[in-house]
Amino acid sequence: MQPAVDLVVFGASGDLARRKILPSLGRLAARDSQAIRVIGAGRSAKATEEFRLLVGEAGGGERLAATADWVHLDYAAPSSFAPLQELVAATPCVIFYLATPPETFSDILLALSASGLARSRDPMRRIVVEKPLGHDLASARALNAQLAEAFDEEQIFRIDHYLAKDTVQNVLALRFSNSLFEPVWNRTLVETILITVAEEEGIGQRAGYYDHTGAVRDIIQNHALQLLALITMEPPTTFDAEYVRRAKRAALRAMLPIDPTMAVRGQYEGYLDEEGVAPDSRRETYVAARLQIENWRWDGVPIFVRTGKALTRRVTEVMIKLRDAPMLRIGGRRQRGIPTLIVIRIQPDEGISLRIGAKRPGTKFELVPAGMRLDYARLTRAALPDAYENVLSEVLAGGHSAFPGAEEIELSWEIVDPLLRAWESEGHPEVYPRGSWGPHAADDLVATGGGGRWIVSGDEPGTS
Ligand code: NDP
Ligand code: BG6
Repeated sequence: MQPAVDLVVFGASGDLARRKILPSLGRLAARDSQAIRVIGAGRSAKATEEFRLLVGEAGGGERLAATADWVHLDYAAPSSFAPLQELVAATPCVIFYLATPPETFSDILLALSASGLARSRDPMRRIVVEKPLGHDLASARALNAQLAEAFDEEQIFRIDHYLAKDTVQNVLALRFSNSLFEPVWNRTLVETILITVAEEEGIGQRAGYYDHTGAVRDIIQNHALQLLALITMEPPTTFDAEYVRRAKRAALRAMLPIDPTMAVRGQYEGYLDEEGVAPDSRRETYVAARLQIENWRWDGVPIFVRTGKALTRRVTEVMIKLRDAPMLRIGGRRQRGIPTLIVIRIQPDEGISLRIGAKRPGTKFELVPAGMRLDYARLTRAALPDAYENVLSEVLAGGHSAFPGAEEIELSWEIVDPLLRAWESEGHPEVYPRGSWGPHAADDLVATGGGGRWIVSGDEPGTS
C-alpha cells in the first residue's frame, strides 16, 4: 500500500537522524494513524534491511522500521536521484529533510530541482533544512535564494529545534500573558542579561560536521540568537507565526554585529585528539560574547552569551538581573538590597524562578536571598515532548510557528560574521579543561563589560 507521507531523510545514517529524528518520528507514528514511510537517502551503500534495523534500533518503532526504505545516491549527481523519484512518484505528500552538513545543501537542492522532485507551488512537496543554514552571510543568502527558486516559502521549513522546545515557547507566555513582567522588561530596570547554553558532552563522533563549524555557527548564530530575540523583542501584534517572526526580525535588526574584542573563544583539552579532528584545528568549542541592542528598550544594557562543549554540566538558561534596590538602613547600618534575578531555565529541570530578598525568620530584621519557582514539568502529567517531536508534527501539519524565516537567519549571520572573519584569519582558542566553565578570559569579559559575573541557577543563593 502506498503511504500517505514519504519522509525522505538525507543523511539518515548520521547522528541527528539516529538520536532525534527517528525516535521522534517513532513516537509520532505510534500516536498518529497517518501512514508515514521513512526513506533514508545518502552516500552509504546500505541494504534496505540494514536501514530497517537502524530505524528499529534508533527507536523508530516496528511500524516505521517495517516499511522503511534506503536509496543510495550521490548528492552531487542529479541522475542518481532517479530511483528516489520512482519510489515516491505515487505518494500524495513528500517531505525532504536535509539532515546533512550544511555544505551539502546546495548540491541536494540542485539535484532535487534537476530531477523534478522539487515542485514549487505544490504544498504537498515540502523541504526541511537543518541549521545552520549556510556557513556565513553570503552562503546563507545564496541558499535562501536557491530554496526560493525550487520551493515557495510555505513549502520551506528551516529548523531551529530550540524554537520548538516547550520552555522556549513558554518565554512568550511568561512575557506577554503576565502584566507583572512587561513593565520591568527594559533598560530602566534590567541591569544585564546572561545566557548560558552549556553542554557536558564533547563532540563525540561528529568531527566531520563540527570541525568545519564550531560553536559560533553551531549554537550562537541560531539557537542563542533566536532565544535572545524572543527575550528582547517587542510584543507581537498576534501570536501567529508571521507576527512573531516580524517581532524577532526587528529585535535582530537592532542587535549590533559582535565586536571581536568583546568575545572569547576556547577549545576543550583533548579536542585535537578526537577522531576526525584536524591535528592543528583552531576550531572553537566554546564562545562567550558581549552583545548590544540599539533600541529604546535595551540601549546600554550589556548582554552576554556563552556556549561550549565539555563544560561542567548541561544547562541552558537565561538570567535576567534587575538593578539593585536602594540601600536599606537597618539598626543604623547600611545594608545592600538583594538584586532580583529572573531565571528562565530551558533545560534540564525546566522552569522559571525568581530570586528575591526576604526577611530571615526570627527576631532580627535581616535580609536573605529567597527563591520562588515554577517547576514546568508539574504543569502536566505527561512527559514533556521532545523538540523534534514538535518540529516533525508541525512539518507534517504544514504549520510554521516553530520555524525562523529566511530574513531572521540572514540577520543572525550579520551579527556573527565579523567575529567569524576575525577568528578565521588569526589567533588560537584558549584551551580549557574538560568539565570546567571554559576559559578564564570569559570571566574577565563579563566583569569588565558590566555584567558582574556568570551565574547559573543553583550556584547562587535563592536560585536553586
Ligand atoms: P553527521 O556528521 O552525523 O552527518 C550526517 C550524515 O550526512 C552522515 O551520516 C553522512 O551520510 C552525511 N555526511 C556527513 N558528512 C558529509 C560530507 N562531508 N559530505 C556529504 N555528506 C556528508 O551530522 P549530524 O547528523 O550531527 O548533523 C546533520 C545536520 O543536523 C547538521 O546540519 C547539524 O547542524 C544539524 N543538527 C544536528 C544536531 C545533532 O544533535 N546532531 C542537532 C541539531 C541540528 P551519508 O554518508 O549516508 O551520506
Ligand atoms: C544542535 C547542535 O543544534 O543542538 C549540537 O548541532 C548540540 O551540537 C545540540 O549538541 C543541542 O541540542 P539540545 O536540544 O540537546 O540542547
